[in-house]
Formats: sequence, C-alpha cells, structure tokens
Amino acid sequence: MNVLLTSRTGYIGYHTGVLLQSGHRVVLYDYQSNSSDEVLEKLAQITGQQTPFIKGDVRDTELLKSMLAAYHIDVVVRFAGLKAVGESVEKPVDYYANNVQGAICLLPAMKSARGQALVFSSSATVYGEPRYLRLDESHPTGATNPYGRSKLHIEEMLSDVATPDPAWRMACLCYFNPVGVHESGLVGENPSGVPNNLMPHIAQVAAGQRAERSVFCDDYPTADGTGVKDYIHVMDLTEGYVAALAFLSQTTGHAINLGAGKGYSVRDMIRAFERASGRQLPYKFFARRAGDVAACYSDSQKASKALNWRAPRALGNMYTSTWRFQQSHRLSITS
Ligand code: WQD
Repeated sequence: MNVLLTSRTGYIGYHTGVLLQSGHRVVLYDYQSNSSDEVLEKLAQITGQQTPFIKGDVRDTELLKSMLAAYHIDVVVRFAGLKAVGESVEKPVDYYANNVQGAICLLPAMKSARGQALVFSSSATVYGEPRYLRLDESHPTGATNPYGRSKLHIEEMLSDVATPDPAWRMACLCYFNPVGVHESGLVGENPSGVPNNLMPHIAQVAAGQRAERSVFCDDYPTADGTGVKDYIHVMDLTEGYVAALAFLSQTTGHAINLGAGKGYSVRDMIRAFERASGRQLPYKFFARRAGDVAACYSDSQKASKALNWRAPRALGNMYTSTWRFQQSHRLSITS
C-alpha cells in the first residue's frame, strides 16, 4: 500500500516509516523540515531506500489533496501534532489549532482524494483520571488536560464522520508512553529545548548535559509517591501501527490501546537508567505538574486479539537503546 505519514515531531513517525518501508511505499509529510533532512538520511541508511518527503502543514488542505492524489495514497497515518501534557496546559490554543484543526483539514482532503483510510494516533490521556487499572477500551473517557481533550475531540469527530459513511475505514491507536530507540541507534528522540517527557530528560541528566532531573511530585497515592506510567518500546508501538494497516480492511472507528501493560514509577525509571548508564542521577522534587494523573497503564488484550500484536521488548531495552543513542549522538541541547 501507499502510505502517507503525517508527522510533526518525527520520533514515532520516523520509526514507523522504518518498519513500513518493508512492504509498503511510504511518503513522509512533515511540518518541521529542519529536523527531517538529517533523519531522512538516516532512514535511507536503515531502509536502503529514499523516503519521499513533502514539507507541509497538515492544515494545508489543498496541498494535502494534491499530494494524496499524486502519490496515489491508500492510507494516511496521522501522528501527534503536539503531544506534551504539561505544555498543553500552558498553551491550550496551540494544541487545538494543531491537533484538532489539523484533523479538520485532513479529512476533506482524504475524502476528495478518495483515500478514506486513516490510522489515527490517539492517546492514553483520553481516559483522564483512571477509575480502574489496567485501562481497557471500555474505560470512560474524559481528559484532564488540553492535549488529551484535543485527542478526544478528534476521536469523537472521526466517529461522527465514519459512522454514516461506510467509505471510511479508521483505527484509533491509544498509545501510552513511547520510549526507546530503533536497534540501529540512528533515529531517536532528540527534542529541542527542555524535554517535556521523562525519558529524554533523564538521558540528558545522565549524559551530564543537564544538572538534575525535576521530579513532579512524590506524594501521589502510589507505592513510592511518584507517577506510575506504562512505558512501551517505540518499536513495539510502531509494530502496532503496521498491524493496524491490515486491521483497517475489517473495521471502522475502533479505539485500540497500545501499551506494555505494566506500570513503572518515576523512581523506578530513574533507578533503571542509573543501572543502564552507570551514573548517579541527581533529582529534586517539585509540585505536581498540571494535567498529570497519578497512575496510568494499559490492558492491551484487544490489540493482542484484533491485531495479533504484543509488546515484548523489556524496560531494559528501552533504557539501553536510549542511553546508546544519547551517547553516540552526544545530543546537543538547547536550554
Ligand atoms: C511521565 C511521568 C510525570 C517529566 C506522555 C506523552 C503523551 C502520551 C502519554 C501519547 C509523569 C513525570 C515527567 C519530568 C517528571 N502519549 N515527569 N519530571 O505526561 O505520561 O505523557 O505519554 O499520546 O503524548 O507525552 O509522559 O514523560 O511527560 O511523564 O517527574 O521532567 O514522569 O509527572 O508521572 P506523560 P511524561
């Protein structure tokens, strides 16, 4: 199939591009071309082929229409526009403008190009404060931050679009906390500015590039007081995307959780990275981060059954691959 990956930050989009290349024709449509040039070279190194790249904003409906037709796209995979919980609380309009508006512009372009098959990257944050754990797809939705609400609005819009129109085929993949790096060590997470997410920040502290780790809150009602999340290796996650392409032919609009099904606390993650890096990681406790929940981890049985998918890569691999990437790239940091 001809697959268009619309991605803004790249981390998950490019990893998926690596996997999809074996068996599909991939076209990358990315807003931030500055980071893409280098990554495209690495994608070519890994896959042995050039990935067509279009610099564009997913809100440019006309450009999208022409690209979908020009490349005879069969399926669009929509990755997160913006995806940081804490940042979304500070900049809610950016999250609605990019994530929700992006989907509003994408759908008519797909309909006019008659390519109405979509894999949408949703998020565990649509479930809000968990009422029970592990989270399955029957859990009530109700986000606690603008990022999760933007994803929830899009999920509801997709359902409104697909339900009356059988021409649409959709899957909403609710992924948890993706971390780790492709086994080549070539494409990894290198956020500009101060990382919002835990893992890249820990990696930069371990590399001595940042003085210390700020831990949000140690008085959650969890075993050690710090937040507990479901960390899934990015390659397991992207294998879920590949499996979802085949699933599309059978269904429309179903949400499917993609998580490893285990919860690790911030302290667990810091200790594990200290073991992986052989470094002590200084950290300080701060107040809870707005929009955070105490604990969130998945029940991914539906994905196992519907997609014949599992997440076999262990936490150790997530760390060692991240640490190897951090060291081999001596990632430059911007304050
Ligand atoms: C993890 C834990 C923080 C930073 C991510 C993605 C989001 C979604 C879910 C897909 C929390 C704590 C963090 C720091 C800390 N995935 N923390 N100090 O918020 O769960 O969201 O996964 O949609 O897109 O962003 O991930 O890595 O920011 O936080 O103590 O400097 O680490 O409180 O408990 P989060 P995270």
